[in-house]
Amino acid sequence: MVRLRIVLLLMTITASAMQFTPVYVFARQDLTVSFNKDVFPILQRNCQICHRPGEVAPISFLSYDSTRPWAKAIKEAVLSKKMPPWFADPRYGGFRNDPKLSEIEMRTLAAWADNGAPEGEAKYKPVPIEWPEGWRTQPDVIISIPEPHNSFFVPNPFTQDTWVSSIEIRPTSPSVVHHVMLQVPEDTPKPASFSWGATSASTCLPLPVNAVNGVNAQLTRPRKNFAILEAVYVPGSPVTDFQFHDSAKLIPGGGKLRIEVHYTPNGKAGPDQTRIGFALAKHPPQRRFITLAPKSLANPRKRIPPGEPNWETRGELEFGQDAQLVWFMPHMHLRGKDMTFSLIAPNGREETVLSAKFNFNWQLGYELEEPIRVRKGTRMIVVAHHDNSANNPYNLDPTKEVAWGNLTSDEMVLPWFGVIVDKNADPERILSIREDGCGINDGVIAPLPVRAPTLPFPLPTRRNVK
Ligand code: HEC
Repeated sequence: MVRLRIVLLLMTITASAMQFTPVYVFARQDLTVSFNKDVFPILQRNCQICHRPGEVAPISFLSYDSTRPWAKAIKEAVLSKKMPPWFADPRYGGFRNDPKLSEIEMRTLAAWADNGAPEGEAKYKPVPIEWPEGWRTQPDVIISIPEPHNSFFVPNPFTQDTWVSSIEIRPTSPSVVHHVMLQVPEDTPKPASFSWGATSASTCLPLPVNAVNGVNAQLTRPRKNFAILEAVYVPGSPVTDFQFHDSAKLIPGGGKLRIEVHYTPNGKAGPDQTRIGFALAKHPPQRRFITLAPKSLANPRKRIPPGEPNWETRGELEFGQDAQLVWFMPHMHLRGKDMTFSLIAPNGREETVLSAKFNFNWQLGYELEEPIRVRKGTRMIVVAHHDNSANNPYNLDPTKEVAWGNLTSDEMVLPWFGVIVDKNADPERILSIREDGCGINDGVIAPLPVRAPTLPFPLPTRRNVK
């Protein structure tokens, strides 16, 4: 009785005062919580996607025997919100791939650990999920990386423009692969001229003298301002399915595909042979799914100073046509701290659509529950922060200034997002970088002294990528 009263009191405090740092109280102290009846279903729904043999997590939660030794660690990991990994601020947006545990699920896992982690009666155990080995989709076309490399080109398997409904990237050794990106390089795929990341020198052409006053302003809007991503793999994320509202992805035929594989810091690239499977669209779609990121948000001339805890980069884009936003994936490197996407509608209404902390170990994608309709003229503001101080456990050396570039030791601000547009839309014209952002305002996009073919950082060729 006494215990019940304390529990109730604590719960009142919890509900009224602790919006963001809840105090956990275990009303469900009952001793009947068992693995088979209560815990296993939660692990199936929320954890086994990563916690099974051959996947990214080092521990398997497929059986009682393999889970039981981790009971206390599970309690700690879920109460501290370390697991399942998720970094979006819950105040904004709604995401269909949010693996969030409910309060009751967290209490159940904790109560199980506190009560000696019993197995329970076999009759309650749900049917095991048949996790696919091999593919999760049914790809029609498969390419395979012959040997592990960080960054390279492979022949495009499609000779003609082809609509695909999903692309699945599958490392053969997921525990050593950190993330994989697939791109169709624009223009001629010469590795030495391909620009990638936040500081490509070719993205901001020199301003004509009078452009600042609005004359000749169109000259400040160079084409190819956006990098286009076809598919990405991050541990534990579902396959990106492009079929939102009768949409599909168009892979331009011919040329080469560019694949970039990042291995985990301790991972030996040795055994991995990443494969990529394309499922062809069954019919020509109405809409096209396009994954974009402005190539240039950071000012390459302003490096991140040593010890700087909160270096801000801000960019502003404008929609040149109606579109629907469906997906985001902030990409930064070791000192990445957070990224926020907001929209300002033509009528001035402002809305934050994603605000996510960044953690280099978990480059998560955020799939909107419902697409957000964006009108022509809407502005999208991206604000990102880097932490180059000693407080950042991933920081290699807080006493060093950090340059922008492709190496993991350099920094990036690559705000990937997915939109659905009319199938004939030109990807380069969906958005523009705001003209006044092109080098005039500080911290947005750097002006370049000349239309320089020489780039300020090493490009990702086989030779120089770490
Ligand atoms: C997206 C993949 C993913 C999901 C989903 C996931 N985990 Fe993990 N988990 C990992 C990885 C990878 C590690 C090892 C690296 C680490 O500790 O960060 C890990 C580690 C752990 C550990 C060990 C922590 C420690 O302190 O050593 C526990 C316990 C754990 N997970 C529990 C869970 C539970 C419970 C769930 C579901 C509610 C879950 N995880 C969901 C990937 C995942």
